[in-house]
Amino acid sequence: MLNRRLTSAIAPFFAVAMSFSSLQTVSAATPVSTTPVSQDNIQKSEQLPAWWKQAVFYQIYPRSFKNTNGSGVGDINGIIEKLDYLKNLGIDAIWINPHYASPNKDNGYDISDYQDIMKEYGTMEDFDRLISEMKKRNMRLMVDVVINHTSDQHPWFIQSQSGKDNPYRDYYFWKDGKDGKEPNNYPSFFGGSAWEKDAKSDQYYLHYFAKQQPDLNWDNPKVRQDLYKMLKFWLDKGVSGMRIDTVATISKIPEFPDLSENQKKDFDEAYTQGPNLHKYIHEMNKEVFSHYDVVTAGEIFGVPATDSIRFTDRRREELNMAFTFDLIRIDVDPKAKWRRTDWTLSKFRQTVNTSDKTAGQYGWNAFFLDNHDNPRVVSHFGDDRPKWRVPSAKALATVILTQRATPFIYQGTELGMTNYPFKSIDDFDDIGVKGSWKDLVETGQVSKEEFLKAARVTSRDNARTPFQWDATENAGFTTGKPWLKVNPNYKEINAASQINDPDSVLNYYRKLIQLRHDIPALTYGEYHDLDLNNDTVYAYTRIDGNEKYLVIVNFKENSVNYKLPEDISIQSTVVESNAKSPIEQNATSIKLAPWQSGIYKLN
Ligand code: BGC
Repeated sequence: MLNRRLTSAIAPFFAVAMSFSSLQTVSAATPVSTTPVSQDNIQKSEQLPAWWKQAVFYQIYPRSFKNTNGSGVGDINGIIEKLDYLKNLGIDAIWINPHYASPNKDNGYDISDYQDIMKEYGTMEDFDRLISEMKKRNMRLMVDVVINHTSDQHPWFIQSQSGKDNPYRDYYFWKDGKDGKEPNNYPSFFGGSAWEKDAKSDQYYLHYFAKQQPDLNWDNPKVRQDLYKMLKFWLDKGVSGMRIDTVATISKIPEFPDLSENQKKDFDEAYTQGPNLHKYIHEMNKEVFSHYDVVTAGEIFGVPATDSIRFTDRRREELNMAFTFDLIRIDVDPKAKWRRTDWTLSKFRQTVNTSDKTAGQYGWNAFFLDNHDNPRVVSHFGDDRPKWRVPSAKALATVILTQRATPFIYQGTELGMTNYPFKSIDDFDDIGVKGSWKDLVETGQVSKEEFLKAARVTSRDNARTPFQWDATENAGFTTGKPWLKVNPNYKEINAASQINDPDSVLNYYRKLIQLRHDIPALTYGEYHDLDLNNDTVYAYTRIDGNEKYLVIVNFKENSVNYKLPEDISIQSTVVESNAKSPIEQNATSIKLAPWQSGIYKLN
């Protein structure tokens, strides 16, 4: 969701920023602590085990995953066709982006019928078959539920718009204008005002996203009951998880006060301040989720990671885990949020650390470094130049799969897929890019060149190009014309070429996923960062009773001598990537190759 307003830009290639090539000695400043890091520090026995904490999730953007009928748009049958590929990778559960009937103004996040399938994706029979094929393979399905808004083509909105006295009028927010203008100064995430004037009634309706995505009025109990019924419909079909889209914005401030100048600069957070937010989520939990064996993961864009515990503290009975955005947004330029600045490893790890400590014993996090709303991880946090793409993709895989949080792998990340080389505004499909172009370029605030430079590294389309299955035409994604262009690097980066290559990014992911399954400490073990201020080597321990592991990742393209804290001694290597020299038992320092990463068992 980061880039819906093009919140970022300039590629943070550490590699370019580094000016030295010789060995640098970096030492871990803090010894591995024997005393608790914080009072929330946990031991396995204190953390309730759950299937969804142990599971490795894979996110599928169905539109771009696999097309089976030549339409150029991915479909449910395509997902079914590739289940064995995912099972073989070790995936336990799959989150699919919205699969419901939609006019696709925002690729399915504008739903016109909650209980029907998007016609491009197939039929309800296909969906039922997907669930049963997944069950056969002992895999679980998480669907994406969009309950903050519907499409303007949803029958509720059509009714609502038909007249002030219609019983559905109150399903949405309708307000009179103020002094001939919008009811207040709320901006939309996709550019322009969050209010759209309706000529017929001379009133405005609210849309935090596109004008084709009117916001539902959660203060109306009928709306909530209708949504709960809809959620049960899918849960009764055997769905095991729900990712709840933009859940932190469902409660609105009833008076709709104007945003202050300060709030306007960062309105994401202001939109999460509705007074009934937690009351509604708790109610939804009681009325719906508590009756099923289901995991809920809230997308809480706008909520600082330090507040995420309000959603996930199990004693509050709201959600199981949350996607927070402080990490993926660490490089948003505070002066101009549509573009990026450089980021540092210290800021990265401090953000991870804060999220971990915030979750503590009672909460839980979802961990992700890319998704359908963000650039490709290797282009964002790694180095996608040919020399470093594979090593840095593997290093980031090590980070993703060793956190005390449920890992989410976005489709194609397991291949090291990269951002797309966009040339002009016409190359983009993203409604967010188009809205920002209107707001910034067409008003003369930002030059075309500057905007494109930013969009190239931030656009959501980077992650949405078709999956690269093989080196045949259209990367084996479709026999038709793909809805979005395939990345021209598909002949080099594709699944077919990696499956039988033991050194591929894909096989490194497979190995790590296996380890995640085999070593409970990697899921539940206490997380302790060895030096929050180190900008070169990311090192942390995962400790579960006597099971102790060290994770080390060199984030630079230079070799580094990493001095281990005195109270750490390595027993053996569990897995390594890009290592050039073997680590000796009881070594006091490690010579790390560029982008080397590894997991080591400690004495
Ligand atoms: C989704 C976006 C979508 C938006 C509006 C987000 O959080 O991840 O892709 O555009 O919600 O539904």
